[in-house]
Amino acid sequence: MGVAAQQTEKAVRKLAGTKVGIPPRQLNFRIPEQAPRYFYGDNGTATAFFAVLSAIFPPGEDFFVESVRRFRDQIDDPELKAQVAGFIGQEAIHGREHERLNEMLREQGFDIHAPDRAIRAGLWLLEQLPHRQQLACTAMMEHFTALLGEQLLTDKEFSQHADPEMIQLWYWHALEELEHKAVCYDVYENLGNSQTERALTFPYVAGALLPAIVGSWGYLVVRDGLWRNPADVRQGLKLLLGKNGFVTRILPRMGAYAKKDFHPDKHDTQALVKTWREKLFGENGSLSADVKNLEATTV
Ligand SMILES: [Fe+2]
Ligand SMILES: [Fe+2]
Repeated sequence: MGVAAQQTEKAVRKLAGTKVGIPPRQLNFRIPEQAPRYFYGDNGTATAFFAVLSAIFPPGEDFFVESVRRFRDQIDDPELKAQVAGFIGQEAIHGREHERLNEMLREQGFDIHAPDRAIRAGLWLLEQLPHRQQLACTAMMEHFTALLGEQLLTDKEFSQHADPEMIQLWYWHALEELEHKAVCYDVYENLGNSQTERALTFPYVAGALLPAIVGSWGYLVVRDGLWRNPADVRQGLKLLLGKNGFVTRILPRMGAYAKKDFHPDKHDTQALVKTWREKLFGENGSLSADVKNLEATTV
């Protein structure tokens, strides 16, 4: 390929995801060699929760991508097409990098296969729903991951508790969840929009996935012998589900998805996104050196 052709290709690549603010950054995260086994708050119960999250991301994000991809041909708007390309690229890389993290967790003795198998069974149930309903479920879960991302990037307590190197992977994922937070919803809206379908996502997703998440979290806690350490369990539950816990602050905001006039962009997170793009991928960004296509993905 000639130089001119290469430059054109580079420009086109930049146009596809980056121009619409959803750049698929080819991150190759340097997994810290000396990361403590309990990387969150030196607490096994809370760490097991984040291990479950990491385990369920690869199959979960495959489900998200598939539920959007099957409606891709019905999109005429070139901007939404580019956003979908950015979304698919970002989610594919999230899955890949979490796989690598999961490999490390496996080596450290966490039975990551358990949440993986459990969530796959739950996703299989969701796959029995009509395709449009599956997409509505995906848009609801993307609302959740956007709230999770916002919480990760703003919750100072969270940062204090987490291993400073390990948390970088979570920051990157959180930022990109905010960058593409409206894509699935916009694809769903493009098909028409049913408030009933949106309301139904809550029992469907909770029924199919919550038992897998809670069950495999409990399994990891028991398997690590933490039932003999009630102080750890108490502290972990407080960090996540206490009055000001990490999860507690997210759940009340989930209901917005069922409102008639819901749209992800009604809650403005652009300033937060700008700040974190600079922190992670700016000139002195903490992860800039780990992105293979930094130039093509600089917004
Ligand atoms: Fe993701
Ligand atoms: Fe996402």
